[in-house]
Amino acid sequence: MTDMNTVAPLRCDRAPAWGKLQAHFDAVGRDFDLRTAFAADVRRLQRFSQQAPYLYADLSKNLIDTRAEELLLELAVQCGLEAQRDAMFAGAQVNRSEGRAALHVLLRDPQTPPGLQAQAAQVHATRKAMLAFAESVRADAGITDVVNIGIGGSDLGAHMAVLALDEFVLAGKRFHFVANVDGHELASVLRRLRPQNTLFIIASKTFSTAETMTNANAARRWFEHNSGGPSGDPHSHDLPAGAHGTARHFVAVTANAAAAHAFGIETIFDFWDWVGGRYSMWSAIGLPIAIAIGAHGFQALLAGAHAMDLHFRTAPLARNLPVRLALLDIWYRNFHRFSSRCIAPYHSALRRLPAYLQQLEMESNGKRVDQSGALLPPGLDTAPVLWGEPGTNGQHAYFQMLHQGTQRVPVEFIAVREAAHALPSHHEKLLANALGQAQALMLGRPDTRGHRDFPGNRPSTFFVWQRLKPETLGAFIALYEHRVFTSGALWGIDSFDQWGVELGKALAQTLEPRLASGDMQGLDASTAGLLRRLREH
Ligand code: F6P
Repeated sequence: MTDMNTVAPLRCDRAPAWGKLQAHFDAVGRDFDLRTAFAADVRRLQRFSQQAPYLYADLSKNLIDTRAEELLLELAVQCGLEAQRDAMFAGAQVNRSEGRAALHVLLRDPQTPPGLQAQAAQVHATRKAMLAFAESVRADAGITDVVNIGIGGSDLGAHMAVLALDEFVLAGKRFHFVANVDGHELASVLRRLRPQNTLFIIASKTFSTAETMTNANAARRWFEHNSGGPSGDPHSHDLPAGAHGTARHFVAVTANAAAAHAFGIETIFDFWDWVGGRYSMWSAIGLPIAIAIGAHGFQALLAGAHAMDLHFRTAPLARNLPVRLALLDIWYRNFHRFSSRCIAPYHSALRRLPAYLQQLEMESNGKRVDQSGALLPPGLDTAPVLWGEPGTNGQHAYFQMLHQGTQRVPVEFIAVREAAHALPSHHEKLLANALGQAQALMLGRPDTRGHRDFPGNRPSTFFVWQRLKPETLGAFIALYEHRVFTSGALWGIDSFDQWGVELGKALAQTLEPRLASGDMQGLDASTAGLLRRLREH
């Protein structure tokens, strides 16, 4: 018998199941009809739904049958998914283009896995210091405002989670997130602050990202100007820096401690090159979350994620939720050829979740070469476009296109059973809307008047969370991380690099001085024309 955990990685289009999947798609997949499928199989809901840690998922309203799922599971085995998963957990260099491990799972592992003692010791020591610091800030009534300055993975996770966990956020503290180099963002936050009551967190793995450093420098200038210099005391310039000044009001989370020191920061929380930016909310990058919901709440977030890690590692593939979701993603992207996916959380506190998942999936799997550097063949498309807004707002905006547009877009509903407020009837209305939209997408409603016809047979996945609490959020994000890992592993791409962000950054650096000087030499006609126009005005 083959040991599944030793199967070598194989790109999915080279696996024997790929051809069978294409044949099955051509025979029945393309014209699959949800309404017929439910009528023909009374157990469809049971077959295509499952409980996973902290959440329930109903996949039954997707354009998939048991044969397609069987073949997709065969595909996962043939691609060596289990070996690839185990290699990631063991700390292998799964990020080949950067020669790095991807050990975000270690950040939430309460144990010390064999072979990872050194990394686990770093994780535990930093977390202890970070959580103690978070508690001290919580206890300090003098700090009313916490400003996180960071971008991408150094912003989105903490921002999304602090909003999502609003019910648990300490009263009396405000949290601000400044990411954009657009000065309007920072200026609008600074206007509301008093330096002596503000803590700035400079969050940057590299401590060199242009947006973050521009904002950090501006925040420090503002602080020093408004608080009486680096010592921060307008009356006594004799105080040692650090007692009340920049050193007390600025902390850093970074893998580049030397640069943070050079900036003048003394309190520095590490993270490491084996934690990818978009996988880093579990590290000290989560400091704003820990200040907002406390050490206990942060540990609960980690515990939820860890429960999902265990599920991903141990559940058989056929009942492994991240795997099933990823296989559905492959089915949709490469056979149905759907190019986008809509995230519709029916909870206003989850309003930054679509943006968070967008980075997670599109920065991870928006790739066109495989791990060996070879171009993927035509048709082997990778990450779809992820987009969305909380329901019910989306219903009054883009749901028209979902119901009656020319393209089919799989929708992902997230409904939370218990509300965190006592306003009568709101929550029932909210849940009824989520259910109604999913039902309308599936069932449709025939009408001879074209504009009134709802074709139906439009796919959706429906997640049910009991309550929006740290454990549940942690579990859901980990579910998504593993789903993205799984589809990336089957496509044979590097889900942990992001070389595609480099070129635009480099060009912006060369264009900035040209904006001042007006030097157009060597520029393409369009960029030169735009530059001229921007300078004129
Ligand atoms: O946009 C590229 C990227 O490297 C992201 O992956 C990362 O999360 C973000 O920039 C911020 O980087 P840093 O934490 O180094 O400032």
